[in-house]
Amino acid sequence: MIPIVWFSLLPCALALAVTISSSPGTSAPYISKSLISLSIEQDRWPDWAGTSSKNEFFIQTLNNLKSITGAPPDIRIGANSEDKTNFAHDVQYAQDIFPAPTSIVPYPEALNITVGDSFYQIAQHLPRGTHVTWGVPLGPLNVTAAVLEATAIMNAFNSPVCKAAGITLDYLEIGNEADLYLNNGFRKSYNSSQYVKEWTALASNISDAVGLSSTGTKFLVGSFAGSSSKTTGFSPQAIYSENVLASGPGSLIAAFSEHHYSGSFCTGNGGLLSDLMTKATIRSNLTIYSNDVIATHAQGLDYILGETNSYACHGAPGVSNTAGAALWALDYALFSPQIGISKVFFHVGIGFKYSLIQPVALDRSILDGSPLSTPLPPHVQPLYYAAIIAAELRGSKERVQISEIGINDTHVAGYAAFEGSRLVRAVFINSKAFLQGQENRTSVHLDLAFTGKSPEAMTIKRLAIGHADDASGLTWGGQTYETENGKVQGKLSLDVRNVTDGVDVSETEVVLLNFHL
Ligand SMILES: *[C@@H]1O[C@H](CO)[C@@H](O)[C@H](O)[C@H]1NC(C)=O
Ligand SMILES: *[C@@H]1O[C@H](CO)[C@@H](O)[C@H](O)[C@H]1NC(C)=O
Ligand SMILES: *[C@@H]1O[C@H](CO)[C@@H](O)[C@H](O)[C@H]1NC(C)=O
Ligand SMILES: *[C@@H]1O[C@H](CO)[C@@H](O)[C@H](O)[C@H]1NC(C)=O
Ligand SMILES: *[C@@H]1O[C@H](CO)[C@@H](O)[C@H](O)[C@H]1NC(C)=O
Ligand SMILES: *[C@@H]1O[C@H](CO)[C@@H](O)[C@H](O)[C@H]1NC(C)=O
Ligand SMILES: *[C@@H]1O[C@H](CO)[C@@H](O)[C@H](O)[C@H]1NC(C)=O
Ligand SMILES: *[C@@H]1O[C@H](CO)[C@@H](O)[C@H](O)[C@H]1NC(C)=O
Repeated sequence: MIPIVWFSLLPCALALAVTISSSPGTSAPYISKSLISLSIEQDRWPDWAGTSSKNEFFIQTLNNLKSITGAPPDIRIGANSEDKTNFAHDVQYAQDIFPAPTSIVPYPEALNITVGDSFYQIAQHLPRGTHVTWGVPLGPLNVTAAVLEATAIMNAFNSPVCKAAGITLDYLEIGNEADLYLNNGFRKSYNSSQYVKEWTALASNISDAVGLSSTGTKFLVGSFAGSSSKTTGFSPQAIYSENVLASGPGSLIAAFSEHHYSGSFCTGNGGLLSDLMTKATIRSNLTIYSNDVIATHAQGLDYILGETNSYACHGAPGVSNTAGAALWALDYALFSPQIGISKVFFHVGIGFKYSLIQPVALDRSILDGSPLSTPLPPHVQPLYYAAIIAAELRGSKERVQISEIGINDTHVAGYAAFEGSRLVRAVFINSKAFLQGQENRTSVHLDLAFTGKSPEAMTIKRLAIGHADDASGLTWGGQTYETENGKVQGKLSLDVRNVTDGVDVSETEVVLLNFHL
């Protein structure tokens, strides 16, 4: 009698058989400790780093990640405002000229920014061991400005403080989304051969001025908003065929950077959260670059998503800033290396809807720009949990492989992590959107099988989410990062189970399994 009553109380739980490989296949990619990295809109970089002293909140959020994998996220500074930056020795930090906020873009990017040496020197506030990419302008074709900036950047990273802290400049980037210069007023006509010509000339000036070849810093190239994936249009294939790598500075290129957004909110129309979270579109948004990755690896270069997030123009309200977007970000970041993308730089800016972190107090709404009666103190947004979970799945060992677990379900995605030849962890993401106002949250029961020897027990950690469209209130293993100082708080809550029990994953939930060996 009792079992019958019990089952009738349970919401209908779909059972799904999941087979996890007990050892990594030969093709399982090795995962960077800083798989989830950050791209920072540079107009307000001093707000992120802090000026006379470091921004403790922001640096804490980076150190949280470092404490999990052993390395802080890489930081790219530049983006749209990179092409609007000039340099003046007498400017302290930065002088920005901002357009008026609108309800669609409550925190617009600067139209014009002038920076001085200290703008770059504050990189020394970053955690020890941070790897940095910094952009200089190509749009205005002002060689003097680009060379002055590059020189100041190199000087900043050559400072004794940065050297002692292992804060290193991996890459100089020249120009942001040059494939859009035709649309945004920088050029009247433009194609990839003009880009290669301009890039090569400017990179020669920069490289000569700073003596780049005798430093550890390299160039990254591309940073395009899209890709034709062909030798016509803008793509890695196009610029390789235009011989960008053959020139003097071209020999210092070590990576291709692609930018990608799943859609745009630039005209005020966002997609649906449930669309963003769809397993199939996450994959199709990334596999469009598969051939670009292959073409790039064939040249011996690294391929990164150097700037990415959900919806362009800082995100869609009620979508990019929500818990559901955290599930999107986690699946998106973990799927990327499956096709050879080594790092995923999520774009962030002050007041941007899709930011993982809001490092300073905000006085107007990120959703519609309306004034806030009390400023919102620094805080993390839901996407931050994606970075934490990806870091925990990765762990701190030097060499870790993560491969996708094939799951025959439109909503459930899974990934397995291997240290050496051993299966150590797995994560499952149920990206079916459980939205505010809905009733009857379903869950999927995963029956676990292993190709080799089965682990006996597992520790289960859950990302608890009220609703996919919640903008806060998430907990990870019972703990929160939504705290005043960015430090994790609360009692850790984990569940230890026999693997033969399997695991339930609700709509809009993530579970991390740590296998006991
Ligand atoms: C940007 O601002 C600086 C300093 O105010 C000014 O000298 C410069 O002309 C401006 N540049 C543009 C392109 O408006
Ligand atoms: C850039 O390089 C060109 C070609 O070598 C040279 O003529 C020019 O003076 C350089 N410009 C700057 C600002 O260094
Ligand atoms: C190029 O940048 C230099 C250095 O800041 C500045 O003096 C000059 O006015 C700029 N040129 C143009 C055409 O804006
Ligand atoms: C790009 O434009 C230039 C100048 O208009 C032209 O000479 C060149 O052939 C074009 N290249 C491609 C790949 O279309
Ligand atoms: C990317 O994802 C969005 C949903 O966020 C979808 O509308 C779009 O079609 C996808 N693009 C590709 C190329 O799959
Ligand atoms: C996947 O699931 C569908 C529907 O649940 C089923 O019809 C199909 O046979 C399954 N495919 C495999 C390969 O298990
Ligand atoms: C939710 O479940 C209850 C109980 O089974 C049922 O009465 C109700 O119609 C369901 N609501 C929806 C929206 O499906
Ligand atoms: C796990 O379950 C299996 C099968 O029910 C059982 O043989 C095994 O002893 C259990 N292990 C533990 C640690 O409880």
